[in-house]
Amino acid sequence: MMESELKRKFCDLYGEGQVRLFSAAGRVNLIGEHVDYCGGTVLPAALDLKCTVAARLRSDGRIRLAATTTDLTAELEIGKLDSYRALKWGNYQAGVAYILQQEGYKICGCDLLYDCTVPFGSGLSSSAAIEVATALTLATFSAENGGKTAKKEELAVMSRRAENEYCGVACGILDQFASAMGKKDHAVLLNCDTLKYEYVPVDLKDCVLVIANSNKPHSLVQSKYNERRAECESAFAVLKKALPEIACLADVTTERFETVKHLLDGKVLDRARHVVEECARVKAAVKAMKAGDIAKLGRLMNESHYSLRDLYEVTGRELDALTDAARSFEGCLGSRMTGGGFGGSAVSLVEKDKTAAFENYVCEKYEAAVGYRPTFYETRISDGIEVR
Ligand code: GLA
Repeated sequence: MMESELKRKFCDLYGEGQVRLFSAAGRVNLIGEHVDYCGGTVLPAALDLKCTVAARLRSDGRIRLAATTTDLTAELEIGKLDSYRALKWGNYQAGVAYILQQEGYKICGCDLLYDCTVPFGSGLSSSAAIEVATALTLATFSAENGGKTAKKEELAVMSRRAENEYCGVACGILDQFASAMGKKDHAVLLNCDTLKYEYVPVDLKDCVLVIANSNKPHSLVQSKYNERRAECESAFAVLKKALPEIACLADVTTERFETVKHLLDGKVLDRARHVVEECARVKAAVKAMKAGDIAKLGRLMNESHYSLRDLYEVTGRELDALTDAARSFEGCLGSRMTGGGFGGSAVSLVEKDKTAAFENYVCEKYEAAVGYRPTFYETRISDGIEVR
C-alpha cells in the first residue's frame, strides 16, 4: 500500500493526527540453508517486500493492533503482556512487546496498523518482518520516552526470542537478522554462532535473482523442522566426543567430517553431511561472488538444492519441480529452494534479458507437473529496516 494510503487508513481507523512509519523486510537466503541452528554461516538478503507499521503513541497503557490484510484486531494491556500467547492474530506482536519489556525497554501504549507485503506462507519470512517491525517501533518509542535504546542487532535477537519463547516456533536467527540488518544491494554473510557479520555486494553482472513462490500450501512444516534440528543435535553430541574442540556442528570441516563420519549412520549421517557441506558451499559462494564468477555461484546454488533434496529431505515435489523447471531453461545459471522448505519459494539466477521468457517457461512446466502455477515476485535487495 502507498505511504499516503496507509496513513489515511490509519487515521480512518484511529483518528486524525501525526502518523509514523516503521518497516522491516522479508528475506531471501542465497545459500546456507538449514545451518543457522547448527552455528553455520548463512547468506541472506533483505527484500523490498516488507512489513510497514503505521504507529502513534497513546497514553492509556494499551497497544491496539490492526492490519490491512485481515479484519482481525487485538488489544494488549502493557501490564499483562505475558497473557496473549493464544491470540489468533497478534501473538507475534505481543511476543515482541513481552520480550522487550523483559529486557527492560519502556513499552509505551500505542495504536499500530500493519501493512505486510511479504506474502504469507511464501517462505520469505513474513513473520520475521512483522516481529522486527514491531521491535523497531516499540524500541523507538522506548528510546524517545526516556527508556532503553536498541541496536539493530538487538532487535533481531529479541524478535527471534519472541518467536522461540512466546510463539513456540523453533527457528534460528537467519530470518530476523536479515530482516533487521539487510542492506541495499548486499547480502549479509552471518556467522550464526557468533553473530559476526559482513556485507557482501550482490553484483550479478548480466544476471538477476528471480524469486518464485511454489504456492504449495504449508502443512506439518514445524514438526519436520523440529525433527531435523533434533537429528543435528544428536549428530553434534556424537561428534563432539571425537572432536572436543568443536562448539557446534558447523565447526566440522569437510575434511574432518570424512575422518569421523563412521560414528554416525542413517538419516543422522545424511543430515550432518548436509550441514558440513552446505557450510563449505557458503564459503565457496562468497568467494565466487567476490571474484565475479556468477556461473560458479549458480552451480553452488544447484548443489545446495540437491543436498537439501537428497540428504536433508526438506524440498518436496513442488520445490523440486519448480527448480528442475528453472534449471532446464537456457539462461538459468542455478536454482534452489530458499528458507525452511516443504513449500515456500525458490530463488533462481537468470540472465537479465531472458527473465520474461524464463517466467513463462517455468510457469508452464511447473503447472504441467503439479497442477497449479507459481507466483513470481518483482523484488529487489533493499535495506532491512527503515524509519519514516
Ligand atoms: C526457516 C527458519 C530459519 C532457518 C531456515 C532454514 O526460515 O526460520 O531460522 O532455519 O528455515 O535455513
